[in-house]
Amino acid sequence: MTDNYTLNTGAKIPKIGFGTWQIPDGEICYQATLTALKSGYRHIDTARVYGNEASVGKAIKDSGLNREEIFLTTKLPADIKVAAKVQETFETSLATLGTDYVDLYLIHAPWPWQERGADYTKENIEIWQEMEKINSSGKAKAIGVSNFNVADLSAILDNAKVVPAANQIRWFIGFTQDEVTKFSQAKGVLVEAYSPLATGQILDNEVIKAMASKYQSSVAQVAIRYCLQHGTLPLPKSTHEDYIAQNLDVDFAITEEDMAILDNLHLS
Ligand SMILES: NC(=O)c1ccc[n+]([C@@H]2O[C@H](COP(=O)([O-])OP(=O)(O)OC[C@H]3O[C@@H](n4cnc5c(N)ncnc54)[C@H](OP(=O)(O)O)[C@@H]3O)[C@@H](O)[C@H]2O)c1
Repeated sequence: MTDNYTLNTGAKIPKIGFGTWQIPDGEICYQATLTALKSGYRHIDTARVYGNEASVGKAIKDSGLNREEIFLTTKLPADIKVAAKVQETFETSLATLGTDYVDLYLIHAPWPWQERGADYTKENIEIWQEMEKINSSGKAKAIGVSNFNVADLSAILDNAKVVPAANQIRWFIGFTQDEVTKFSQAKGVLVEAYSPLATGQILDNEVIKAMASKYQSSVAQVAIRYCLQHGTLPLPKSTHEDYIAQNLDVDFAITEEDMAILDNLHLS
């Protein structure tokens, strides 16, 4: 699967990205990212807070691919809610990644993780203005948000010059966040599906297992395919070479009937 979505900037974004959360910096992240690039991934998702930007950047450099062939995302830490800190934090990410630009820079969450749900609307609007400056500098080809609900996203849309290119949210079979998904998509904001395998929790589900055997695929492949058929962009993570390759090998179609069965599952 090497197809692309098109962002509202006009840029292409490979439909499946390689997730790197919880992959330790150093040899493990370096090898996993290199394996992903060798397996055909051209889209890597990291974040300042994952602590592994250095290994991701080194793998990109050593892959033999041109930087322009790879779509690279990183994120402004959720606990940075002071606009004056945005530029410096972004520059630190660029330096750690060892690149001149990222393809997508996201506000990691609308609130610091320890204050989930707190109202940082005013701060996020101010931060977005800094994100727009980074965007116009060309150092982030696109800018977006993550973990934003409808109210969070509306506040940005009402005040922004640049419409966010993506909203990266927790999204998998049985947890499809319909309200914010529909809202984002209607506004031209690509929904990126993080934790498309529910951080591994989906893998034992009996309904999905039965469907996977019907399609002679794995549960992971059905879960990834499901995201694509809903127009969301899955970001599967793995450190195993066979899983990494398998998660990109999803050129099959789930029937409408089976999609409806999956749509009726409720997981969390
Ligand atoms: N923006 C945010 O706030 C946010 C939050 C969470 C995640 N994310 C992004 O989304 C990415 C993915 O989410 P996630 O890390 O929660 O996990 P995930 O991709 O939903 O699931 C990863 C787990 O599934 C296992 N796995 C992967 N492929 C498999 C396969 N084909 N067969 C069997 N098991 C398989 C992995 O095992 P091994 O690793 O042992 O191979 C790992 O335990 C993150 O890495 C990150 O880039 C973003």
